[in-house]
Amino acid sequence: MEEIVGLCKRRGFIFPSSEIYGGYNGFYDYGPLGVELRNNIKQAWWRDFVHRRDDVEGLDSTIIMHPDIWKASGHVDGFSDPMVDCKETKLRYRADQLFFAPVVLDGEKAGYVAFIEGTEDAAIYKRAKKLRDLAGKKQSTLDENQLIQDQTEFTESTVEQRAQTLGPDASKLDTLTEPREFKLMFETKVGPLADDSATAYLRPETAQGIFANYKNIVDTGRVKIPFGIAQIGKAFRNEITPRNFIFRSREFEQMEIEYFIAPDADWRTLHRGWLDTCINWLVSIGLPRESITEDVHPEDKLAFYSQATTDLMFHFPHGEQELWGVACRSDYDLKQHQEHSGKSMEIFDESAKAKYVPHVIEPSLGVDRTLLAVLTAAYTEDEVPNDKGKVEKRTLLKFSPKVAPVKAAIFPLLKNKPELVERAQALYKKLQRRWNVFYDASGAIGRRYRRQDEIGTPFGITIDFDTIEKDGTVTLRDRDTCEQRRVTEDELIAFLEEQIDG
Ligand code: GAP
Repeated sequence: MEEIVGLCKRRGFIFPSSEIYGGYNGFYDYGPLGVELRNNIKQAWWRDFVHRRDDVEGLDSTIIMHPDIWKASGHVDGFSDPMVDCKETKLRYRADQLFFAPVVLDGEKAGYVAFIEGTEDAAIYKRAKKLRDLAGKKQSTLDENQLIQDQTEFTESTVEQRAQTLGPDASKLDTLTEPREFKLMFETKVGPLADDSATAYLRPETAQGIFANYKNIVDTGRVKIPFGIAQIGKAFRNEITPRNFIFRSREFEQMEIEYFIAPDADWRTLHRGWLDTCINWLVSIGLPRESITEDVHPEDKLAFYSQATTDLMFHFPHGEQELWGVACRSDYDLKQHQEHSGKSMEIFDESAKAKYVPHVIEPSLGVDRTLLAVLTAAYTEDEVPNDKGKVEKRTLLKFSPKVAPVKAAIFPLLKNKPELVERAQALYKKLQRRWNVFYDASGAIGRRYRRQDEIGTPFGITIDFDTIEKDGTVTLRDRDTCEQRRVTEDELIAFLEEQIDG
């Protein structure tokens, strides 16, 4: 992760927000290359799920909506995480990500150590030794097995256990509070009054904007069951522990579809179909199939309105984590809005000759998490020969041409030969009308290639003397294999079209 964060900063993909003021936890800005990568991911998603499907329509709803929407959806009362504060360090932890384990000295329990999910065994052991020191029993034997095997979620801790617990960053026992609910929605005020009646919320998901507009879209008459409404947009959550770079942030973007189906439809088969479609899409933008797994939520842990939820997990640098949630949400949301708004959410199904409130399947994906997955999959270190044939290390980003921020770089072989420069500039201007391409004339050609490899540009195009004196062909270099071949301009454009837009 550190290498990815470093590369992102160095090359202008992602910066901490408000950095000149020391940063702002949970917020990130996207620099010149980051915004291209981000836009390409969103465009590929929109193209594949809206433009290239006949059964999905697009929507762009507002971030701030009528507060009653969040009452109907259950977010005002229920959208919270259990949190634990440390009275000593003032740090705050999510209770469901905090664990504790017994410290047993010479066969007797001396207390507990608390640690964040994913902490390495060696680090837990170090904290246990700290507790042993605090107990004044430096010479006693610490039971390593119990420490590693008897780990329990902090939400299950008792008052007595908390009193004997050493917090993850504390220097003494009994500093952690009991888990308390912490609201995740950001509040704001709308209008001139600052009282409670003016309270509004920044949306924590784009989905409710879709449910709130479902009736409008049905009334346009463009859709018939089954159909989907897709939306890309910002969402905000006051996450207690934003961490792992852009994986969990407080301002992020979602790409969501609500796919409306008949109440008696075979939702299990449709759910499976959506999972396969989502996996195929992730592979199409460059994620290796083997790094995507499925986490099926057990039935007894499902939200009461959910029939099934499966998360597509990705192998991020900090472990296997949720990337894309695909949930069957029944008719819960539409029924809630029907009840709170007093407006019917029924649709007339022509083929079934029946009127009903549809059920919904919801594939919900984060833009930022997808970007982190794409970066993780693309980050590569290998060895290639330099201009002089000497093998050297290179760092490259193997982005799929579909999402790569820069699609191709155009190089005149020499910058002091006007005829090469003129021809390269002409090709650059031509390609620039369709794609984000880059022109570079400075330095040895090998170094120019290397600079593009590091930012993930898939193709290098060199204009040399054969181009202007012989057949007009250019050299096309592949970033990953470093192989070069000569192609005509027509062949080049057809190839780029297929690779980038195919
Ligand atoms: N409408 C359903 C919904 O919002 P979710 O599992 O809470 O479900 C869906 O979020 C997706 O949004 C997640 O799988 C993840 O990709 C992304 N996401 C959620 N919270 C996030 C956060 N704090 N930072 C970045 N991405 C987040």
